[in-house]
Amino acid sequence: MKKILAAALLVGAIGFQAGGDAAWTPRAAAAASQSAATSATEAPLLVNKTHKLPDDYESVVSLVTVKNCFGVKFQVERETYDHFLELRKDLLKSGIQIELESAYRSVARQQQLIEELRETEGEAYVKNFVAVPGYSEHHTGLAIDATVVVNGASVADYYGTQETPYQKMHRKLADHGFILRYPPGKSGVTGYDYESWHIRYVGKETARKIFLQGLTLEEYLAGGEETGAMKSKFGSAEYWTRRNPGGEKAMDESRREEIRETMRKKSAALIDMADYPDSLSLDELRKKIAFAKSCFWYFEPEKVYENGVPLPRSRYGQAVDNCGFNALPERQAVRFALTTTRAGLRHLPESAGWYEDDYDTHYDLLQGTTVDPAEPVAVLAESRDKRFCFVEMRNFIGWMDRNALVFTDRKEWMKYAAPKEFLVITGHKKEIPVSDKLSLTFQMGSRLPLLRSKPQADGTWLVSVPIGADRTLREATVRIPADDTVNKGWLPYSENNLIRQAFRFLGDLYGWGGLEESVDCSMFTADVYRSMGIDLPADAVEQMYAMPEVVDLEKMNAKEKRAAIGKLRPGDLLFTDGHVMMYLGRDDKGEPYVIHAGSSRWFPGEGEEGGPLKYYTRRVTVDNLRWYKSSNRTCLDLIIGAGSMRADKKAED
Ligand code: DAL
Ligand code: ZN
Repeated sequence: MKKILAAALLVGAIGFQAGGDAAWTPRAAAAASQSAATSATEAPLLVNKTHKLPDDYESVVSLVTVKNCFGVKFQVERETYDHFLELRKDLLKSGIQIELESAYRSVARQQQLIEELRETEGEAYVKNFVAVPGYSEHHTGLAIDATVVVNGASVADYYGTQETPYQKMHRKLADHGFILRYPPGKSGVTGYDYESWHIRYVGKETARKIFLQGLTLEEYLAGGEETGAMKSKFGSAEYWTRRNPGGEKAMDESRREEIRETMRKKSAALIDMADYPDSLSLDELRKKIAFAKSCFWYFEPEKVYENGVPLPRSRYGQAVDNCGFNALPERQAVRFALTTTRAGLRHLPESAGWYEDDYDTHYDLLQGTTVDPAEPVAVLAESRDKRFCFVEMRNFIGWMDRNALVFTDRKEWMKYAAPKEFLVITGHKKEIPVSDKLSLTFQMGSRLPLLRSKPQADGTWLVSVPIGADRTLREATVRIPADDTVNKGWLPYSENNLIRQAFRFLGDLYGWGGLEESVDCSMFTADVYRSMGIDLPADAVEQMYAMPEVVDLEKMNAKEKRAAIGKLRPGDLLFTDGHVMMYLGRDDKGEPYVIHAGSSRWFPGEGEEGGPLKYYTRRVTVDNLRWYKSSNRTCLDLIIGAGSMRADKKAED
């Protein structure tokens, strides 16, 4: 069936309907002191194909009359509108303008709309997208059809391979108390096909729960908050740790060290920084720089976009030239430095973002990973323009902005590379005020040298944080409250700690290469593991090869794969070619689940002309393996392997 992702379709069809409906009593509404269905204690109002608008509803709802940017008037429930304005303002910061397209609709208006759409779009459209009068959420005033406005004109959503502005809006909804009411893949539950424009106000607390657990309003209400008797249970660490009572057993330190060694042997990306050599040969250095360059895998640089226009070939040539291959010495002395801010590691010494599409702003192909402050790195070369340093760190290699580094001698550097006692950040995205002017963000697993073994009398840990620029290392003594976002030493390595650490990311934004202050699939798994003292390579494919035990699943059929996956331990990793997920366990029906930082997924049959829809989730979610990883293949189909720590076994060789 042809489907139109077009909020614009309804433009003009929804006028201002004040007084258009006999049941509507504006005086009673104005007198109502509290807005409908948004109080924190009440369950949100459900209006759907089987739940009619309550008879007395319209006498309690408090509607306001407002105009959109085109001067068209609407009625909206008061609190809903306040939050819509908040959402609108938030999106404007990322250059997206949303406007009201439809809000409150009376029963009579809904009837009229059906007749209009039957004429213009046909019966099938009406059936899939329009509610029977009396059963529309629009009667509540809590639902809004939003439209995206570009250059003063309303634009419909479209079917593309990049994230659409409507999808960007979806990710912001929960922050402002809204949910996407008819998400893709849920028509069996909601009764309606995917509507990218229809949002519903439920209040921030509820919206956040619904968003984090990937639910519809129907599923959320069916489960109930207290009983957790339905799908929502999958969205908590508690559920998975309870199913794994043996998972509290912690690995002993000698075994952990053995695993570190095994992994360093298996993957060249993993390095014990404390053992870093003092110099490198020309050949070694050339290979490393060439390797970083090869990670910019776009083979046709002229098909890459910078600032929305095709990249001139000369720009690529300049970036390669800036690597300074010809200026490298016969033997390079290694210099030692520390990061003083969060900084990107780039495949080439170039700071501009290079994208696969002219309108993309998220997937910068030059970004390898993002490094936390206070990270010890070995500096191996400088770019010709002196703006970048070529650095190697514990799990990756690439070019870093020189201004993000402070140089020091090896002895001072070792305080960070091999601290005797240290504090590990175990929370997620921890903000640490360093001085009145400086605050630094640390991701899970970062570590800082402790200046005292025990917390101070005021309950804080004393740590040292490197600051300063270029050649002058200064260190700030910082007090960090001793709470559950930090730990002295690595967290004990256990399956259930892996689960608990992973869930601290739930719902967080996905950020390619750590851009947008966030994590991508492999940074997510690497940060979870490093909080327990195990480094994983920064790259997903490389992570698979580094795991102590790798299970090859590529040639198996679905049934065999399910059986093999069922034998994994919680915390083990599952890989497709390029994506990594953390295995959580199986539910009562034997269905395997994962938690992962995902970019996009597909919905077959939900796109143009009944074709596939590509949808950008761009966040950390819990899923089974049935979601579509490509237009016609599920995640399970595309899984090629699993990696395990073999925490319960002894290394064989
Ligand atoms: N488009 C939604 C389902 C409505 O008509 O209420
Ligand atoms: Zn709607």
